[in-house]
Amino acid sequence: MHLFHYQDNQLYCEQAKVDEIAQDVDTPFYLYSQGTILDHYKKLDTALADIWHLICYSLKSNSNMAVCKTLAKQGSGADVVSGGELFRALRAGISAEKIVFAGVGKTDSEISYALKSDIFIFNVESMSEAHAINRIAGKLGKKAKIALRINPDVDADTHKHITTGKKENKFGLAIDNALDYYKEAGSLPNLIVSGVHAHIGSQIVTTDPYVKSIGKLTNLVYKLRDAGIEIETLNIGGGLGIIYKEETPSTARDFANAVLPLIKPTGCKLIMEPGRFIIGNAGIMVTKVVYIKKTDAKTFVIVDAGMNDLIRPALYNSYHAISPVNIESSEEMVVDVVGPICESADCFAKERSISKVNEGDLLAIFSAGAYGFVMSSNYNSRPRIPEVMVKDDKHYIVRQRETYEDLITGESVPEDIV
Ligand code: LLP
Repeated sequence: MHLFHYQDNQLYCEQAKVDEIAQDVDTPFYLYSQGTILDHYKKLDTALADIWHLICYSLKSNSNMAVCKTLAKQGSGADVVSGGELFRALRAGISAEKIVFAGVGKTDSEISYALKSDIFIFNVESMSEAHAINRIAGKLGKKAKIALRINPDVDADTHKHITTGKKENKFGLAIDNALDYYKEAGSLPNLIVSGVHAHIGSQIVTTDPYVKSIGKLTNLVYKLRDAGIEIETLNIGGGLGIIYKEETPSTARDFANAVLPLIKPTGCKLIMEPGRFIIGNAGIMVTKVVYIKKTDAKTFVIVDAGMNDLIRPALYNSYHAISPVNIESSEEMVVDVVGPICESADCFAKERSISKVNEGDLLAIFSAGAYGFVMSSNYNSRPRIPEVMVKDDKHYIVRQRETYEDLITGESVPEDIV
């Protein structure tokens, strides 16, 4: 469910008219519906109600402070993968005891920051990292709670760039040797080994891969207990898929029905790290048609947003629905929707049939809330675009458009070198 809808051929976000927002903030911009974010969070929270659970929103999908604060107020925890994300989560008011820290390359300073902040648990991705956390915790006089991130060698049946739970992926520790890893970690004096973690991939639309992976993880929990290693938390990661085009992803309820019967008997506390499920369809990008260019081969609709603003189509060839903000014609046109960047990959849609548009019209690029702004860059020296959040019929700029001055902030040209 999301709260973007057409009424009389005009696009609304909740009760706010998108073209009026565009007049206020100028294009391009990201637009988020707070009501949609809340709905998605609550759907998952309710579906998991039968079991002790903690939803740790995955900040990497969208770490805007207004988004984080919206979720913090609901009691959400956070899944962070860098010092910067930890800083954002804490600043947004997410309590430290609800923060989990993953990532294969945590540095000493990030580990130390997390320990000093008293986060809930580290999701440890290698034995070298376990030793590093033990060493730093010792220096700080702390005990670090850890889970080992287990690579269950399960195919998540998704795009190869967002599969993470196969043997050949860099993530986690091999399930076959897990008992040895747990014994080794358990022998380190400054670690409290208390969890099992896995994240098998992203945009997973069926429950099958989860059932397979969780089956392996719960077996591991029993095996560890038999060996005297008590496991308190089972973190099954994120990855719940959404509708970009014609996918039929499992609902939160389907998901819970499939996985809770496996998890409940373990008595473990359940942690989940959803990102896309919460924010993906809660955001769009609004862009303006600058030119329409017809060649012998094609019609190009050239818009004022580029791959630097939303890189998913260029990077993963991913599909995002595109429609005019105001549908003014029942005619369709087959076009390539492209940006202004000097790269052929700067393309949001190829040979796509869209409602007829003219130069100056606004287009909405849907399902852009997750991995949109956070993956944007200043490539081609383009200031990053604003983020706007709607609540009911009002909109709020929750991140300003960058200026040209912002582009060179922090750069210096010492006299000695010029
Ligand atoms: N937990 C861990 C350890 C993760 O690595 C990820 C995502 C998540 C949770 C959240 O996954 P989600 O629920 O959002 O699927 N940039 C790509 C997606 C990369 C996902 C990376 N890890 C994209 O645009 O599709």
